Amino acid sequence: MTAFTVDGGRRTDGTIRVQGAKNSVLPILAATLLIHNKSVIHNCPPLGDVDAALKILVKLGCVCVNDHQSVIVDATDVANYEIPKTLMHEMRSSVLFLGAIISRMGRAVITSPGGCELGPRPIDLHLSSLKQCGVNVREEEGTLFCSAPNGLHGATIKLPFPSVGATENIMIAVAVSKGTTVIYGAAKEPEISDLADFLNAAGAKISGAGSDTVIIEGVKSLHSTEHKVIPDRIVAATYLSAAAITGGRVCLKEARPEYYLSVLKVFEQMGCTLTGKGQELTLCAREPLRGVSTLVTRAYPGFPTDAGPLLVPVLCRAEGESRITETIFENRFRFVEQLRYFGADININGRTATVIGRPLLAATVDCTDLRGGTALVLAALAASGRSFIREVHHIKRGYYDLPGCLSALGCEVKEVEIDGSHTAEKEEITP
Ligand code: EPZ
Repeated sequence: MTAFTVDGGRRTDGTIRVQGAKNSVLPILAATLLIHNKSVIHNCPPLGDVDAALKILVKLGCVCVNDHQSVIVDATDVANYEIPKTLMHEMRSSVLFLGAIISRMGRAVITSPGGCELGPRPIDLHLSSLKQCGVNVREEEGTLFCSAPNGLHGATIKLPFPSVGATENIMIAVAVSKGTTVIYGAAKEPEISDLADFLNAAGAKISGAGSDTVIIEGVKSLHSTEHKVIPDRIVAATYLSAAAITGGRVCLKEARPEYYLSVLKVFEQMGCTLTGKGQELTLCAREPLRGVSTLVTRAYPGFPTDAGPLLVPVLCRAEGESRITETIFENRFRFVEQLRYFGADININGRTATVIGRPLLAATVDCTDLRGGTALVLAALAASGRSFIREVHHIKRGYYDLPGCLSALGCEVKEVEIDGSHTAEKEEITP
C-alpha cells in the first residue's frame, strides 16, 4: 500500500502542463464502440479511471493499446454486450457505456452502478431518455437488461436537470440512429463539446453542444478518426489552488482558462493576480488571501462542484470567515472530517460549509474520494510539518503523478510504501 508524504510550508513556484481531461476521455472511450474500426485518442492521461474504461472495452471485444499519452481502440470485432458487476463498480461512470453498447449490439446488460463516495448516483435520467429513443429496460435484482430490437430512433428529450452523464449517454446512443434527436436542458460542460467534436470528426452530425439544446441527426455509420482531448479544467484548478494556499506562483501550460472562468473569478476575489498569455495562465497568490462570503457550486458555467473541495482548504488559509454551498452532490463535504485533523475550523450545516481561516498543522489522514482526497493534499502543502495522506488510490483515479507534479512546482510531496499498520500520530491539535 502507498501513501503520500507532504512536507508543508513550501511555496509553489514553477510551470506545469495541464493533463488531458478525465471527464472528456471517459465518454469518448465509450463512443469508440460506435466505430467499427480504429480510433486514436491523444492527450489521454494514464489514470485509474482510464484503465477501468479500457478494461470494459477489452471485455466487450476491443483491442486497446495504451502508450502513455495516446490510446488506440480497435472496435472492429465487438462481440459482447455485458459489463460485469466488478467492472461496473470499479468506476461509477461505467454507465456512460450503456448507450454505446446498445447502439452497437442492439442490447446491453449492466448492473446499476450504485452510489459512490459522493452519495447516491441515480441513472433515472439516462434510462428515461434512452427509453424515449426506443430502448426497452427491464430490471431484475439490480441488473438492467436493455434492448432496442428495432434500433434506436430520434426523440425530443427534455432533461429536468442538466445531467452531464445523461447528456453524453444520449449523444452517443443516437449518433448512429434513424431520425433526429433534440436534447433540451442539456449539460453545457466543455467535455460535452469535446465529445461532440470527437463524434463529428468520425462522421456524426451533432450541433449545439455546449448550449442547453443539442441536436443529433442520426447517421448510418461512423468512421475511424483521431482526436486530442481538451485539458482538464479541474486539474488546472488544483494547481492554481496549490499556488494560492502556499502563497506561491504557478504558470499553467495548455491552460484553456475559458473553461473555468468561474473558478478564476474566485481566486481574484481572494486577491490573487492572474495573467494570461495565449495558452498560458499564471497565478500569483496574495498573502493573506481574502475570504469569500458566498461561494455556491452550480452546473456549468457556474462554479464546478468538482472544484468545491479544492477551494475549502484554500479558504482555511484565507482571512476571516468564508462560506461555500454545494448544490450537486449530497456527500461532497465528506472529506471535511479528515480536513479537521489539520486543525481546520469548518462547520457543516446541511450543504453549506463555513470556514474560519487559521494556520494548519501536519496530520495523518485518509482520502475519502477523488476531489476530497486532493483537498487533503492541498491542506498538507500549507500545514507546518510532515503529513501522511493514505488511501491515495482515490486520487490516482483522476490525477497522473500528483506527487511528481507538485514537486515540480517546488513542493515536497513523495509517494511512499506503508504497511497497513502505519500509524503516524496525528499532530496534537491545540484547541
Ligand atoms: C459528471 O458526473 C462528472 N463525471 C463528475 O465528475 C461531475 O462532478 C458531474 O458530472 C457534475 O459536473 C464524469 O464526467 C465522469 P450528473 P455525472 O449526471 O455525469 C443527479 C469527478 O470528480 N442525477 O451531472 O454523474 C445526480 O445524482 C466526477 O471527476 C440524477 O438525479 O453527473 C447529481 O446530483 C465526480 N439522475 C446530479 O444529477 C441521473 O440520471 C449531477 O449528476 C443522473 C444524475
